[in-house]
Amino acid sequence: MKYPVKNFLRCVINNFVLRRPLPLLLSFEITQRCNAKCYFCGYWKLEEFTPELSLDEIKKLLDSAYDLGCAIFVVTGGESLLRKDLPSVLKYAKETGFSTLLLTNGYLLPQRIHEFYEDLDAVSVSIDFPDVRHDKNRGLDGLLEKAIVGIKQARDYGIIANMNCVVTGQHSLDDVKELLFLARQLDCGFSVAPLFIRPAKFTNGAILGTLSKKEEDLMKLNDWNLMKSVIDMLLFYRKNGFRKTIQNTNSYLRLVKDRADFTCYPLNLQLAVASNGTVATVCAAGLYESHNLGNVLKQDLRDIWFSEKAETLRRKFKECTLAKSMGCYLLCVAELSLPFHKPAALLDYVKKIT
Ligand SMILES: C[S@@+](CC[C@H](N)C(=O)[O-])C[C@H]1O[C@@H](n2cnc3c(N)ncnc32)[C@H](O)[C@@H]1O
Ligand code: SF4
Ligand code: SF4
Repeated sequence: MKYPVKNFLRCVINNFVLRRPLPLLLSFEITQRCNAKCYFCGYWKLEEFTPELSLDEIKKLLDSAYDLGCAIFVVTGGESLLRKDLPSVLKYAKETGFSTLLLTNGYLLPQRIHEFYEDLDAVSVSIDFPDVRHDKNRGLDGLLEKAIVGIKQARDYGIIANMNCVVTGQHSLDDVKELLFLARQLDCGFSVAPLFIRPAKFTNGAILGTLSKKEEDLMKLNDWNLMKSVIDMLLFYRKNGFRKTIQNTNSYLRLVKDRADFTCYPLNLQLAVASNGTVATVCAAGLYESHNLGNVLKQDLRDIWFSEKAETLRRKFKECTLAKSMGCYLLCVAELSLPFHKPAALLDYVKKIT
């Protein structure tokens, strides 16, 4: 991915030298609607979707996030490809100076990628199983096939592509290995993250909705040894020909393997904005009312980011112990917290982007 160098350097100097939080990524939930029904995610169960920002409102958000220092625009959802004006959103983001990354289940990629390929730097497609279980667990027939075609098309257009697998209790080591080999064959990256089941008492985490007891029992990672063997396998293949394919950093893989404690920083490198403009954090459990820091339609983004509430949250997040106790290692949160927690992890990133 091409990084907007000025914002990138500004972010590194502020966060790691001056110790002043400045976001690198704007993670925007472009819609809460979804065309899938994944067992482990509750977006599709929401009874009401929050209203979505209009294109003009998104443009203003992009302007102020870029001014604040963001360099990478991550479009997420719900299912991002359901948003009709996605091409205009990506075009404006590129014109503003952002690198663009789209998170998607891939179902609509073959149908829509031609509308926006020129303004997309990278795409991460969720593929959890190498066979019909993928469609079944995500409740969408034909999903695996379309996601694979979408990745191929993205690569043909020269877009960086990644396949992300959420590892559940239903996986075997061979399932993950098969996906790793498929990713190499498709010339795309491959990343894993363990399933996180948000305790029901936390209702506002980054992954919305609640799982039923049946869904939870079906998907739960009861035996962390599976995660350990997945990670040993990835560490082995990284040394044996798959260095370019495996996208997780070594620091992340070791953290998850050991199911270790880490200090979480969900409000330092990332600015999360919900579909209606509410500024949140990427905290998976939405701890300490972190799902609502203000709204970009009513307040200045910079004021929200540097507010006292945001500062208090940053301090409180450091006390969270849900990683070790509940297995909270969301890729986008833990990977981006590690450079603060363990400065050597910063080197992992430098190696990845050089
Ligand atoms: C919320 S989805 C939004 C983008 C798109 N709909 C998709 O599925 O890729 C973003 C990522 O979160 C992952 N995810 C959803 N629920 C999860 C959970 N309970 N634990 C870990 N990852 C989860 C998805 O697999 C996906 O890779
Ligand atoms: S993981 Fe993605 S595709 Fe699945 S229900 Fe959640 S938002 Fe939709
Ligand atoms: S580990 Fe981080 S993302 Fe998970 S609940 Fe704690 S603060 Fe939130």
